Amino acid sequence: MRAIEFRDVSFSYGEEGEAEPQIGGFRLNHLNFAVEEGEFVAVLGHNGSGKSTLARLSNRLLEADSGEIEVFGTLLTKKTVYEIRKQIGIVFQNPDNQTVASIVEDDVAFGAENIGLPREEIGERIAFALKAVGMEAYRNATISRLSGGQKQRIAIAGVLALKPRIMILDESTAMLDPRGRREIIDVVERLNREEKITVILITHFMEEALRADRAIVMNRGEIVMQDTPAGIFARHEELLTYNLTLPRIGMIVKGLNAGGIPVSDTLDIEKLAGEIAECVS
Ligand SMILES: Nc1ncnc2c1ncn2[C@@H]1O[C@H](COP(=O)(O)OP(=O)(O)O)[C@@H](O)[C@H]1O
Ligand SMILES: [Mg+2]
Repeated sequence: MRAIEFRDVSFSYGEEGEAEPQIGGFRLNHLNFAVEEGEFVAVLGHNGSGKSTLARLSNRLLEADSGEIEVFGTLLTKKTVYEIRKQIGIVFQNPDNQTVASIVEDDVAFGAENIGLPREEIGERIAFALKAVGMEAYRNATISRLSGGQKQRIAIAGVLALKPRIMILDESTAMLDPRGRREIIDVVERLNREEKITVILITHFMEEALRADRAIVMNRGEIVMQDTPAGIFARHEELLTYNLTLPRIGMIVKGLNAGGIPVSDTLDIEKLAGEIAECVS
């Protein structure tokens, strides 16, 4: 089943009532893409390419000017928006802006309490969500004492407690150190594989896209590539024109080949290590 589909969606941030967007203003142009249920899709793009706008359109925080958006077979409209918002959880960039309580369990419970779930069910959902993000030992901890990665995992748990079928992470690792980033990506991958949550990971870290089934590249409001991560990173010259680079392993492969050590164009670190070992033995 299709989790989410954009059909010819266009959008511009015009003044209200303005007939035409300002010349040179930002426009999302005729976006077409679909994400299947259970897929893990990365969305890549330079700053200002329209990634967050795309996320906000998907649950109607912004309304498309034209085109259609469908979520699990239901057209996104004024009428269906509240049902659809229950299915899509969005995690944002700054963990400090996403916490509402000072103690972990209160924070994770907040969204679930707001939709009026019974107390017992809320307790179960907190336990489930904290376990899913590997934070069950921190149920009574004070959030301000946690690391960035831990705070962000608590934000993910709060979204998970609402049992969304789709999770969108909008640069949720951007403010974290490498360790925090790894924690988040590991959690996201596990939620996708084990809880079968459809994941849309918006990121400008190329390494993170390697973990996805598929990647979408945006540039100036348009989708310019849709392929497997390997397929996308094979088009290095084109990526450069969108101000994107290769993940580190891609750089290493390029460097080795340029330096006269022939290795295949792989993104698999173990395969690369094997080939290098063969070359030098
Ligand atoms: N509320 C807004 N009003 C007007 N322009 C906006 C608004 N939010 C974003 N933009 C512009 O839209 C473009 C795309 O922004 P965004 O979707 O946030 O890009 P990204 O998330 O890829 O960095 C940018 O040029 C940005 O300046
Ligand atoms: Mg953004």
